[in-house]
Amino acid sequence: MPKKIHVCVAWPYAAGDRHIGHLAGAYLPPDIFARYHRLAGNEVLMVSGSDTHGTPITLRADQEGVTPAEVVERYHSRFVEAFQRFGLTFDLYTHTDTQNHWDATHDMFLRHLARGYIYTDVQLQLYSVDEQRWLPDRYVEGTCPYCGFNRARGDQCDSCGRTYDAIELKNPRSRITGSTHIEARPTTHFFLDLGKATDFLIEWLNRPDKADWRPNVINAARARAESRELRGRPITRDLDWGVTIPVPGYDDKRIYVWYDAVIGYLSATKEWAKLIGRPDAWLEWWREGDEGVESYYFIGKDNIEFHAIIWPAMLHGYGPIDPDRPDSPWLKLPTDVPANEYLTLGDFKFSSSFGNVITINEAAARYQVDAWRFALTAMAPEGNDSEFTWQEFVRRVNTELVANWGNLVNRVLGFAYRRFDGRVPHPAALDAADEALLATVRGGFESVGGLYAARKFKAALDAAMRLSQEVNRYVNDKAPWQAVKSDPTAAATAIYVCLQAIDWLKIILAPVLPFSSQQIHEYLGYDTQLFGRQYTEVIPDGRGQHIVLRYDHADAAGRWQPDPLPAGQAMRPPQALFNKLDESVVQEELARMGVR
Ligand code: MF3
Ligand code: ZN
Repeated sequence: MPKKIHVCVAWPYAAGDRHIGHLAGAYLPPDIFARYHRLAGNEVLMVSGSDTHGTPITLRADQEGVTPAEVVERYHSRFVEAFQRFGLTFDLYTHTDTQNHWDATHDMFLRHLARGYIYTDVQLQLYSVDEQRWLPDRYVEGTCPYCGFNRARGDQCDSCGRTYDAIELKNPRSRITGSTHIEARPTTHFFLDLGKATDFLIEWLNRPDKADWRPNVINAARARAESRELRGRPITRDLDWGVTIPVPGYDDKRIYVWYDAVIGYLSATKEWAKLIGRPDAWLEWWREGDEGVESYYFIGKDNIEFHAIIWPAMLHGYGPIDPDRPDSPWLKLPTDVPANEYLTLGDFKFSSSFGNVITINEAAARYQVDAWRFALTAMAPEGNDSEFTWQEFVRRVNTELVANWGNLVNRVLGFAYRRFDGRVPHPAALDAADEALLATVRGGFESVGGLYAARKFKAALDAAMRLSQEVNRYVNDKAPWQAVKSDPTAAATAIYVCLQAIDWLKIILAPVLPFSSQQIHEYLGYDTQLFGRQYTEVIPDGRGQHIVLRYDHADAAGRWQPDPLPAGQAMRPPQALFNKLDESVVQEELARMGVR
């Protein structure tokens, strides 16, 4: 039975370009996971979109003197473009300023309100007296109440990662004018009662199926819940940009961006269901307890609390999907939240606040996408923060991707094409070494596949590269380039065995290297596509229209198995797969970043 694998990807703020640290941490891993499951014949639904609300957007608009909608439009279309270039196979990449998303947010808000998970309270909020305006979230900066970092944002500290109320900041100052003439004034807001979910969260986070969660994630989540410090959390703001509050009397306030953003996973599934013409299909992905349905949330570590505490509490607070049938299924809780640590640059955090690093759009334009996908997977910050350096990028590409895999493919395919009339040669009987090599590579479907499925992408890539190394060793021992003169049959057999190994390895590596695997597939003479096609589309919606990235499922299903390479199959003239990088890349890139 194929499984349903729901791949949920963090929603980037449409307020600034994303850089390669984000790609390594949050966007590439889910695509590798999704592609693996597509090849393995599971049904995948990968969704995300741009997070269009909140003060990151309005601040940027204020700084530039444009409307928030213009900021959203600009960055959203840049994300769509970059994600398509990097081959991120979103079934739907949308954004949150759509009627569909607003409806889903209102629905959840009203349900929480009806079930007592939301209440109103008067709260003190920071008010800038000189500017005569409220200073929600990122409009204010100050000293972190937990770690003392002195450029802490109003909602979360970039240094220690803790979240808090702006009111707790020490020495607050306006980020617009720098004014410190700031008062705490009362204002009425809605609160999500997280305390009400504490018992549920403690029970859920201690279920046996949490055993394979990453320790950094499960430990942080359990500590939060078990501290029993979870309280009401304000989920509205004094702002005029964001989802409206579906209750009369609150026209000058909006829903807090984090409350609506996580609902995006659900609303995007609903939008996708409408797009495929089966509006109820979202339910197949969202019923808790349905056999064979799994959901995975790929995020950076700064978002753990929102995905492992707040979102599960919100889903739980929603209650039965059909309110008139108390025994109807509830909304599905995350199967896993494989959060990554940070990819750092030098000794400061690789966060968008630190500018100057290479954006994903530039990255795609300057180097081969598969080279990036390879290097960033090899350096992925899975268990610890890891450091990106240009030296390391060049080294990984040249000494691993090119030297181990690229050269193997070039040598063997080039030789086969030239010496065997452009066809896959017919092997004679296989000897023990031939059989052993094929058995080793064949084993990769299970071993490497298991690692992909377990969200251990670095280890999966390592294991696949070791298989490639085995093929290199084999071909060096057999030296078919020499043998072809004295014993053409032996040479044909060795080349066949290598081509078969490469044919399998191309599949095993395809989740990480989809573009070059497709090329190899074509050089070997196949006419099919390993994966489906990505395309963009403009969708009309009650709030205007928006561009989305979609994916058309093609032949991927059932490829994750050692199919035999047909001897005699006509090949296509092979070309070099990867460019070796010149050492000067390091100096050029450092100069571009302003580092000398
Ligand atoms: N917009 C947030 C950020 O860029 C992430 C939101 S993830 C979601 O950090 F859960 F809200 F979707
Ligand atoms: Zn801090």
